[in-house]
Amino acid sequence: MAHITASVYTSHVPAIGIALDQGKTAEPYWKNVFDGYEYSKQWMKDNKPDVIFLVYNDHATAFSLDMIPTFALGVAAEFPVADEGWGPRPVPKVVGHPELAAHIAHSVIQSDFDLTICNKMPVDHGLTVPLSMMCGPLDPVKDAWPCPVIPFHVNVVQYPVPSGARCFALGQAIRRAVESFDEDLNVHIWGTGGMSHQLQGPRAGLINREWDNTWLDQMIADPAACAKVPHIDYVREAGSEGIELVMWLIARGAMADVAGGKAPVVKHRFYHVPASNTAVGHLILQEA
Ligand code: DHB
Ligand code: FE
Repeated sequence: MAHITASVYTSHVPAIGIALDQGKTAEPYWKNVFDGYEYSKQWMKDNKPDVIFLVYNDHATAFSLDMIPTFALGVAAEFPVADEGWGPRPVPKVVGHPELAAHIAHSVIQSDFDLTICNKMPVDHGLTVPLSMMCGPLDPVKDAWPCPVIPFHVNVVQYPVPSGARCFALGQAIRRAVESFDEDLNVHIWGTGGMSHQLQGPRAGLINREWDNTWLDQMIADPAACAKVPHIDYVREAGSEGIELVMWLIARGAMADVAGGKAPVVKHRFYHVPASNTAVGHLILQEA
């Protein structure tokens, strides 16, 4: 059977991808950010998954106002790296896992979550920046990401957005789906985006360290209570783009303790301001 062995959480600031791609990681501004991922890169090597189920949000790249799926699952064999205006990032191509993805589609839809199934989906910074943070800079041609990746998009860009409670319940359905796949696979589930940031309007630049860290404490220790935080609290306290954090609740909902098992071990926790307009948060939870 396939098993979820860990969940990883990280912000996806696009400027971090640019800093990596342009070799600026040692500059004082960026060094503070990248230092927070040194442990994580080694942890990834020591705990290499067979598949990453990567929850992220598309930023009007694969989708637009023409079509707004709330939840979209990538079932393709490959996902092209999107051109977000400056050409595609120079990173390895993203290889999917069509068999596991198709099984998850069947299981989760039969659990009453209406997913959009994507056979074609270019992936943007929401997915490639977390991969780069966790795996370090890689040659786009000679290197490969450590394993196949199943992209899972959540609409947190255009209202109405799904609630934290819905995301948390979906994570539980994804766990049941993975654990019923008849192949011995080590699966990591990643929740990405956040933490506090607002990119537009009079409050642009908003950062709320206290709220971010209190939310993190609760997300780790009492995720069911955290899932009850209404969307308006994210927007009010963590800024309009702070709502990206509901995606972390999908990964958290997929951990064993939520299904009655043991609490996960906090392997790593990191929080840093500033990175572009965003408070960077990062967490690794491993099953006990
Ligand atoms: C920034 C952060 C994001 O999450 C994003 O999607 C785009 C920009 C930023 O901090 O600049
Ligand atoms: Fe974003």
